[in-house]
Amino acid sequence: MNTSIEIPVVMLDEKPVSITGCRHHFPLLHEQVNGKPLVYLDNAATSQKPQVVIDTMMRYYQSENSNIHRGVHYLSERATQAYEKARDKVREFLNAAYREEIIYVRGTTEGINLVAQSYGRTNVKDGDEVLISAMEHHSNIVPWQMLCEEKGATLRVIPMNDAGELLLDEYEKLLTAKTRIVAVSHVSNALGTVNPIKHMIALAHQKGIPVLVDGAQAVPHMNVDVRDLECDFYIFSSHKVFGPTGVGVVYGRKRMLEAMPPYQGGGDMIKSVTFEKTIYNDLPYKFEAGTPNIAGGLGLGAAIDYVQKLDLKAIGEYEHDLLVYATEKLLVIPGLRLIGTAKEKAAVLSFVIEGIHPHDIGTILDAEGIAIRTGHHCAQPVMQRFGVPATARASFAFYNTKEEVDALVKAIYKVKEILG
Ligand SMILES: Cc1ncc(COP(=O)(O)O)c(C=O)c1O
Repeated sequence: MNTSIEIPVVMLDEKPVSITGCRHHFPLLHEQVNGKPLVYLDNAATSQKPQVVIDTMMRYYQSENSNIHRGVHYLSERATQAYEKARDKVREFLNAAYREEIIYVRGTTEGINLVAQSYGRTNVKDGDEVLISAMEHHSNIVPWQMLCEEKGATLRVIPMNDAGELLLDEYEKLLTAKTRIVAVSHVSNALGTVNPIKHMIALAHQKGIPVLVDGAQAVPHMNVDVRDLECDFYIFSSHKVFGPTGVGVVYGRKRMLEAMPPYQGGGDMIKSVTFEKTIYNDLPYKFEAGTPNIAGGLGLGAAIDYVQKLDLKAIGEYEHDLLVYATEKLLVIPGLRLIGTAKEKAAVLSFVIEGIHPHDIGTILDAEGIAIRTGHHCAQPVMQRFGVPATARASFAFYNTKEEVDALVKAIYKVKEILG
């Protein structure tokens, strides 16, 4: 059994720092819960925030607060510049070709709805098909169902095997002349599976079918390069990548976004309005109606600066070691079944224990100061596929440690002692 985990050293502001040493940047990680040191293993739901993100947002409200894009006064110009600079950071983070390809939204959910409503309503017609996968989050199912219902189209689903890996042969067969778009997660929140999206995109493109990637669970764990992936849309939420809630990003290929109608109407998304006709604004503003989450955008920029200073490749490798270590420890617990055993996995461990409801596992762990998530993880079809009503899910970030995994394992034995 692998009992030692090498902790990578990264350069932060030109100083070497161990990855787990970065814990001290996250104030909440030093809290006590129920009289015990917090062990935060609910990172797939939302990540903790480094002080620099909190400070950036505080600074905006304390000394920069102003609406953007509309004012000629000092504060408005300053806020606009900061907000647009954050957009440039997102562009660079995803390696998008143009800043116009970066649309701010409220989060992944809104981003997928934007594409479904704008691209989808324009391009999906009666008799067409939309292809998603069996492991999608509800936010990458329901918007497509709504679209299909409206248009008389059919939702098709790429099946998966018992390990939680998509069946690529079936996928190829499902890519037909009727398929208008493929929408698939990069990493599954419920199973941890990392999908071979580059390959999947290439297969879809061979048939001229565009691909949307739900990157909510990928961006905190790996470098994402939208030009290398050649995806048409890539969507993520700031709050899962150490940024604030209420802001997210749609990357879309410029030529596709240009051809798409706006998603919402209102201020900022227009060039001119008369009662007879509205001329829409250029990208990216065409898709950004109304006052955006300005503090959120700035916070996301700070979060991106922060993760970019760390080495996302080293983060991914360290988290993989943590995953392997935790998997080995969990698998020897009698009655414990892992849900999601794909070869390629991000650091997510979904499990059930025979005879014990996941909520009871979560409650006892909470008493030990350990935060995990229990439930269907907004992926009810995944639960149905594996024949369980819910799972307990521990999900790691780079600031988690081997000692925290040990605390989790010890607490699970306690759960068994009490309820087993
Ligand atoms: C894979 C996946 N997609 C989409 C979402 C929705 O993200 P949000 O609630 O931030 O819109 C989540 C959130 O857990 C997710 O894990």
